[in-house]
Amino acid sequence: MIKKQNNNLNKIVTILSDGNYHDGNTIGDRLQMTRSAVWKAIKKLESYGVPIDSVKRKGYALKNPLILLDRNKIKTQVTQKIDLSLFESIASTNDYLRTLVKPKGIKVCIAEQQTNGKGRLGRNWYSPFGKNIYLSCLFPFQKDLSELAGLSLVVSLAITAALKSFGVSETLCVKWPNDVLYDGKKIAGNLIEIQAETHGVSTVIIGIGVNVNMLEDEKQIREPWISLQKILHDYIDRNLVCARLINELLAHLHEFSVNGFSVFAKHWAQTDCLTNRQITLHNLQKKIEGKSLGVNHQGNLLLQLSNGDIATFSSGDTSVLKK
Ligand code: BTN
Repeated sequence: MIKKQNNNLNKIVTILSDGNYHDGNTIGDRLQMTRSAVWKAIKKLESYGVPIDSVKRKGYALKNPLILLDRNKIKTQVTQKIDLSLFESIASTNDYLRTLVKPKGIKVCIAEQQTNGKGRLGRNWYSPFGKNIYLSCLFPFQKDLSELAGLSLVVSLAITAALKSFGVSETLCVKWPNDVLYDGKKIAGNLIEIQAETHGVSTVIIGIGVNVNMLEDEKQIREPWISLQKILHDYIDRNLVCARLINELLAHLHEFSVNGFSVFAKHWAQTDCLTNRQITLHNLQKKIEGKSLGVNHQGNLLLQLSNGDIATFSSGDTSVLKK
């Protein structure tokens, strides 16, 4: 079920974000809401998994820091005018953009929670409320589908640039085609879906997930992961991450749409963590081992096989072979 963001929820969280207890009457007076409306909003937050301490005669307090996403805060920091939708809860931001009828121009959609977040290769993308970034962007390219091969790599470079702006640099790298890793653990990924191709215009939906304030040992995630907060040891305002991510993403997409992948080749080579390493590629149920030689001018993976041949791959899942 789609839930548009409720402003009252945001205002209550802002009041509670000072870490102190606030009773229902005081919150209600400040926001011109009834005590029961405040109570309902608190129950809603709890239903989303936000831990709230409720103490008789003291009121409510957030157990952990929380800043909710705020459309205006994001828009004021994005350097170009964008059509931005924000949801409290949605199945998948990628799926939402796919349902738009005859969309015009660039659309961005973000959500506090996804109930059916999708990862690559049919996997789930764990999307708890209020912790991470779940963002999708619908982007029309004046390009043929065949020219979009390196897009996923370019999106990974945009994510990397946004993360670097927070001071996360060393050991941040990209594992072909789309995993952004820090210290070998996944911090972000992207899922690209082609929506339509007509008269030389290919409309794509680019979905990005970034782990920002997730801290617990999430059993639902089967691969090693890390979050910005784990790296920086500080709670991060996701509005700022969203804005920087959108700025980098749009700049990278415009550049890609004009010049293609080749202008990113050098940057890719500096950010790639597979080059010259023995890797396994899972591709169409097959497992292929070889030495990664980086990518070609289209962004396809070059793998040197044990017989010396060099094979090219446009899709698959990679992992570094343990010695
Ligand atoms: C991957 O690494 O497997 C890709 C993860 C992509 C997750 C994002 S979150 C926003 C968008 N909506 C989805 O359902 N998936 C993408």
